[in-house]
Amino acid sequence: MIVYFNGKYVSLEEAKISPYDRGFHYADGVYEALRSYNGKLFRVDSHMRRLKYSLTELNIKLDDINQFESVSLQLAEINKILPHDFSVYIQVTRGVQFPRKHNYENNPTHTVFVSVSKLKDNSEHLEKGVKIILEEDIRWTRCDIKSISLLPSVMAKTKAVNLDAYEAVFHRDDLITEGSHTNFFAVKKGVVYTAPLSNFILEGITREVIIELCIKNKIRIEEEYIKVSDIKNYDEFFITGTTTEITPVIQIDDWVVGNGSPGKLTRVLQKYFQEHITSFN
Ligand code: PDD
Repeated sequence: MIVYFNGKYVSLEEAKISPYDRGFHYADGVYEALRSYNGKLFRVDSHMRRLKYSLTELNIKLDDINQFESVSLQLAEINKILPHDFSVYIQVTRGVQFPRKHNYENNPTHTVFVSVSKLKDNSEHLEKGVKIILEEDIRWTRCDIKSISLLPSVMAKTKAVNLDAYEAVFHRDDLITEGSHTNFFAVKKGVVYTAPLSNFILEGITREVIIELCIKNKIRIEEEYIKVSDIKNYDEFFITGTTTEITPVIQIDDWVVGNGSPGKLTRVLQKYFQEHITSFN
């Protein structure tokens, strides 16, 4: 497997990171995850804008962000993944600094890593739906930054998987924020709800697409918190993400939603999403 590491295309074995990398000591870095449809990168501009935002918030200066588009396509080509669709993982840390100390100095050389992998088939999840669990949101209050500091998400997702669930969805007290790696949506009486943008959630690119599709197709969408205490008054739920796409939720903890199959409006949105990705440029 060939990866992109600090400006070069190298084998995975050659990509070596210093133990004094601030990513290793402090999770001092950010990442971005995107994917292709039909060999083309989906919403690459939005992903690059989000990456730039995360880097700027951490005061990590990286000049050539747009290189990641050609790097990703190049990696897909070199690794002979095309015409199969692939996901792209980009990680930038502040870089190496010796000796270890909390405050960073002005200009360490950043560590930059990009890899691509073949996407796994998620059709069963899309078709049948998944179980999720609700977990207290113990993450920090800058979830708008796509930071590599992901321990609460790692713990919650692992708990979910151990309970045969696909995702852990977080709530701050009564307010549902988002999943460990997805955004969360609910439907009540034909209206779609999702948490408003704030420092408590990541601005999901798939979320952005869903909102656009709702507006275009005259489906009412409200960026309003879904409450844990009110959860049983909703008709449908789904989670969204780059690789998760629109995955119906059919069970929340022990509660089976409706008749245990994906909701009607969720199905309609899946169809609009499918049409959108087959026609995008
Ligand atoms: N996760 N919320 C969180 C906390 C996320 O980590 C992600 C993405 C999303 C959905 O964003 P998008 O629609 O842009 O993929 C929401 C990526 C895929 C990951 O962690 O690998």
